[in-house]
Amino acid sequence: DRHEMEKRVSEIKEKLGSRLFIPGHHYQKDEVIQFADATGDSLQLARLAQSNQSAKFIVFLGVHFMAETADILTNDDQIVILPDMRAGCSMADMANIHQLDRAWKKMLEQFEDTILPLTYVNSTAAIKAFCGKHGGATVTSSNAKEMLQWAFSQKSRVLFLPDQHLGRNTAFDLGINLDEMAVWDPIEDVFEYEGDLNKVKVILWKGYCSVHEKFTVQNVNDIRAKDPEINVLVHPECTHEVVRLSDFSGSTNFIIDTIEKAPAKSKWAIGTEMNLVNRLISMHPDKQIESLNPNMCPCLTMNRIDLPHLLWTLDNIVGDNIHNQISVDEETASFAQIALTRMLERSL
Ligand code: 13P
Ligand code: SF4
Repeated sequence: DRHEMEKRVSEIKEKLGSRLFIPGHHYQKDEVIQFADATGDSLQLARLAQSNQSAKFIVFLGVHFMAETADILTNDDQIVILPDMRAGCSMADMANIHQLDRAWKKMLEQFEDTILPLTYVNSTAAIKAFCGKHGGATVTSSNAKEMLQWAFSQKSRVLFLPDQHLGRNTAFDLGINLDEMAVWDPIEDVFEYEGDLNKVKVILWKGYCSVHEKFTVQNVNDIRAKDPEINVLVHPECTHEVVRLSDFSGSTNFIIDTIEKAPAKSKWAIGTEMNLVNRLISMHPDKQIESLNPNMCPCLTMNRIDLPHLLWTLDNIVGDNIHNQISVDEETASFAQIALTRMLERSL
């Protein structure tokens, strides 16, 4: 039963001591996050992986691309394990390297050498490596603005992938007009744009987060009709229409900080993943917090990491029987590291 499993996880953690490190993303379930040695958003977790040079085993409570990033940033003799291999990210799956190779050819035909690739960390190691190889970098939702500014100091155009919404919201914040942004459809291999493509500054890959797209303009209108005083706070993976209507938008960390600093009795409707919203509700009983979408929006792949999978993974480590190791090949890792380092050097 659950209590038995929790007891066993605690015992193994104690036994392995500093040989084991468990980082966890804020969207993970309580049943596993209670065992995390550190929690963070995707930027913080990348930093943690980079700074922990001592743990032999890194059991990652998050999704596949985060574990890949940890493998890229840690030493060769450190072993990164994802407790359930099915914990992917539907957004990261919307861009594969073959599609990007084809797209890049079209970009070069259209824009010659005026374009730089930037990828959200929610992408495969191969896509990060492509960006590293072509002068580009990674971004997270915490530093997307700084990184887009940096990209424009290098080239006059940017291909932003795979999240069109983060790309559009960030470019808009930097004063780029919507008619200066085109969408690239990687299934049809076409630009979605009416007019002269030479006017375009940002090309947005047609990917999205299936969790954050569930927050709608209707949700914002409904919640404001119910309570005009409520503050709407959303993640920039939400659509541009929702972000523009919201009172505040920012990364997972920004959302947590904003709620922590908010005055008692203030009212909040939050547009982000369900586990984080529920955690904020229970941590701040003095504030009135609800999900912007009343149906709540879980990330199904994040939720695949559960207590039985964590225990199974730790049992395997103790039994010297490693499963689900995430290992990025050396060549891909070296170029992906260039892209990640360009970001880590430029964000606080
Ligand atoms: P951040 O942790 O960068 O806010 O990203 C949110 C997310 O969707 C993680 O998958
Ligand atoms: Fe991917 Fe969205 Fe889930 Fe994050 S919340 S892991 S972007 S599907």
